[in-house]
Amino acid sequence: MHFFTYKGNKFYAEGVSIEKIVKEVGTPCYIYSHKTLIRHYHAFDEAFASVPHLICYSVKANSNIAILKTFINEGGGVDIVSGGELYRALKAGVNPKKVVYSGVGKRADEIEYALKTGILMFNVESPEELRAIDRIAKRLKKKAGIAIRVNPDVDPKTHPYISTGLKKNKFGIETSRAIQEYVYAKNNLKNVIPIGVDCHIGSQITQISPFADALKKTKQIISTLRNEGIDIKYLDMGGGLGITYKDEDAPHPSKYGKAVIDATKGLNITLIFEPGRIMVGNAGILVTKVLYTKQGTEKNFVIVDAAMNDLARPSLYGSYHAIKPVTHPTPPFNKGGGEIIADVVGPVCESGDFFAKDRPLPAFKSGELMALMSAGAYGFSMSSNYNSRPRACEVMVKGNKFSIIRERESYKDLIKGEKRLK
Ligand code: LLP
Repeated sequence: MHFFTYKGNKFYAEGVSIEKIVKEVGTPCYIYSHKTLIRHYHAFDEAFASVPHLICYSVKANSNIAILKTFINEGGGVDIVSGGELYRALKAGVNPKKVVYSGVGKRADEIEYALKTGILMFNVESPEELRAIDRIAKRLKKKAGIAIRVNPDVDPKTHPYISTGLKKNKFGIETSRAIQEYVYAKNNLKNVIPIGVDCHIGSQITQISPFADALKKTKQIISTLRNEGIDIKYLDMGGGLGITYKDEDAPHPSKYGKAVIDATKGLNITLIFEPGRIMVGNAGILVTKVLYTKQGTEKNFVIVDAAMNDLARPSLYGSYHAIKPVTHPTPPFNKGGGEIIADVVGPVCESGDFFAKDRPLPAFKSGELMALMSAGAYGFSMSSNYNSRPRACEVMVKGNKFSIIRERESYKDLIKGEKRLK
């Protein structure tokens, strides 16, 4: 559920009309609803209210420090995958003891930064990484809490690019090897302390069964490890819960919560979650202006001022984002019907630069605004400067007020750090 709705024929974010925001900040712009973020956080938190748990929001989904702070204020921690994400989270005020660090390629300087910060645990993805963490921790005279990310070989039934828990994926360590590594760490590595087991199987998962399958395997691992005298205190289930972009029947966190709680009864463990998309996906939109319309010989095109550099998901995964007119003469335009069938495309010089293909739409005209829905996750955070396009600004709406939480980039920003050789 989110708080983007029509009031009359005008599209609003909470109590502020999108038109009003655009008048002040221009296009393209990302607009987030604070109330939606809070609602999503609490829906997840309440799903696990009856058991010890920690929500470590996955920073990569949307890394703006205002978003991070919103969740941190509610008691959340973070899941990071780089030194840069750790830096952002610390700037947002995260408690280091609520930070988990995932990713297959942690650099030595990043490991050192995390150790000095005193994070809760590293989610280790290879035997070599485990030894590197131990070595660096020894040099710094620190102890590193670790979990091994186990690769359970389950099919999350999602887009192949965002499946991570299959044997052929680069992520995690296969079960029996993971157990060997825990035992090796316990006996030989004095500066790592195995405290958790981690398992993240993929993203935009809209069924409970893949999570349940993964959980079955991780529970067996935990019991084996405890029999070996390894004191596992945390089970990190990763993120991955999907959302509705179009007509997906994504499970509510409470359904996911019930399944996880039932399956972990008696395990005596603190659950960690790394939700990203479900927290921010439907809490953000990308607003863009129609520049031109054009009738090709085979297709209609609506050319807008946002592009694949602003929102890469359609180009990368063929993902669907609903499109809503910011002003519509016959509200509400939400039945999926339309007056034209068109491709919505951006100005970037690639045929893959599109937001929609053969989509029924109202007959958009030059100068009109459209909202690309469900753009809060993996939208701005995956944006780039391709074609030397300054990145969009980001705006947070809170009730009847809005604030810019990231300025639009300038041309000067584009060449920051570049040197013109003589
Ligand atoms: N934890 C780990 C270790 C992850 O790799 C991810 C996402 C998450 C948590 C958060 O997953 P979520 O709850 O958001 O599904 N760019 C793609 C999604 C890539 C997901 C990468 N990992 C997209 O736009 O669909």
